[in-house]
Amino acid sequence: MPKLHVITYGCQMNEYDSERAAGLLTQFGHYELTDSPAEADLILLNTCSIREKAEEKVFSKLGELRPLKGRNPDLVIGVMGCMAQLQKERIRQRAPSVDLVFGSPAIARVGELVDRVRRERRPVLEVGEAPLVKLTTRPRRPSLKAFVTVMEGCEKHCTFCVVPVTRGRERSHPPETILAEIQELARQGVREVTLLGQTVNAYGRDLAPPTDLAALLERVNEIDGLARVRFVTSNPYNLTSRLIGALRDVPKVCESLHLPLQSGSNRILAAMNRGYTRERYLELIAELKETVPGIALSTDLIVGFPGETEEDFAQTVDMVERVGYDSLFAFRYSRRPGTPAATLPGQVPEDVKARRNTRILEVAERVSAPKAVALEGRELEVLVDGASKRDRRQLAGRTRCHRVVNFDGGGRVDVGEIVQVRITQAMPHSLRGALVEEGAHVC
Ligand code: SAH
Ligand code: F3S
Repeated sequence: MPKLHVITYGCQMNEYDSERAAGLLTQFGHYELTDSPAEADLILLNTCSIREKAEEKVFSKLGELRPLKGRNPDLVIGVMGCMAQLQKERIRQRAPSVDLVFGSPAIARVGELVDRVRRERRPVLEVGEAPLVKLTTRPRRPSLKAFVTVMEGCEKHCTFCVVPVTRGRERSHPPETILAEIQELARQGVREVTLLGQTVNAYGRDLAPPTDLAALLERVNEIDGLARVRFVTSNPYNLTSRLIGALRDVPKVCESLHLPLQSGSNRILAAMNRGYTRERYLELIAELKETVPGIALSTDLIVGFPGETEEDFAQTVDMVERVGYDSLFAFRYSRRPGTPAATLPGQVPEDVKARRNTRILEVAERVSAPKAVALEGRELEVLVDGASKRDRRQLAGRTRCHRVVNFDGGGRVDVGEIVQVRITQAMPHSLRGALVEEGAHVC
């Protein structure tokens, strides 16, 4: 049987897409998966274009894989995902060993595309649009947790971002296909799903009749066997009181929200075309905290957007302190071809971006540490993931607020179970706890 090796870069949506492609190839193309690129007859790289660094990683991997072609002339190397859409010319120039380039709309036809490369013995490029299809194939049984894409694309056109170019228009999958996929996952033992979309909280407005994420969450909540539901990424512009209500009222929806702020300066937010101000964002945070006490909040920030002054950056620091995030991702602004911000004046030097990045992470650490300490002594619901990474005799799981907890299961607890754990100690990146038999609180 021919062997397939898949390498995935980038976001959770890419992980989901890689599984679909590998699922199609293993189920219908008669491939089997291998962990070793040297053994493979087909290597697929699912790529990310969000920052330049992500693209450089792919080019260096392609350089590394090139000698394999000398050893196995039948080896096919394919590049899929965002770079296929954005960098097709550069891939051709910099990586002539690549035989196949295809965008995410063409995943459904991956088998046919690989066959065409073999048959025609020449490179194949497939980056056009295609009708929206819901693929649910997987190369292996799903584990305890699974991602489920509920919508594709994005139409927000934030001035720094390539996603609208690489992933196309915003299109929601109909609720019925999503529910059928999750039902099947639950039947196979999946306990937690994360619904994925670039602006997941805009879900459903393009459907006929229109619907929304809150309505979808209510229906997902009804699925037997499933214990938890999460969703990413929400955009502040589309955050409604109805969705905030669902975070409180729909039992399986975890009380945590990733709400990218990007910048705390109104001037920069406007230049980014984000569609909200710091005041509006703070209003949303106030509503979230009031409606869902103890909600865990996380965010994405960009430092060094063109024209960002020390004063603008200080406003971002101020927002981190005011909101009190549980965790955050900070990115140095990266110029992306074809985006409006790439040609703005006032590009910020790399050393300044690096300094601001370090500073924001220090502030984030200082803000989140007391939040973990505040959990000491509390009993929290934990979904058991498996053995702890640090001590194989211990178990590890996640709270509803997505913190890792290590505890002794005493041989009485199985992977996939929901248990109550009393938090005994907050460590820098995880919690320690002790199993309790009853009593439930949500963090
Ligand atoms: N759909 C999400 C964003 C997806 S991209 C949203 O609504 O915000 C994930 C994160 O990458 C973004 O939140 C942003 O912080 C970061 N990012 C996107 N483009 C970037 C760029 N050009 N440079 C640096 N970071 C970027
Ligand atoms: Fe990108 Fe903004 Fe959409 S960050 S994914 S254009 S919401």
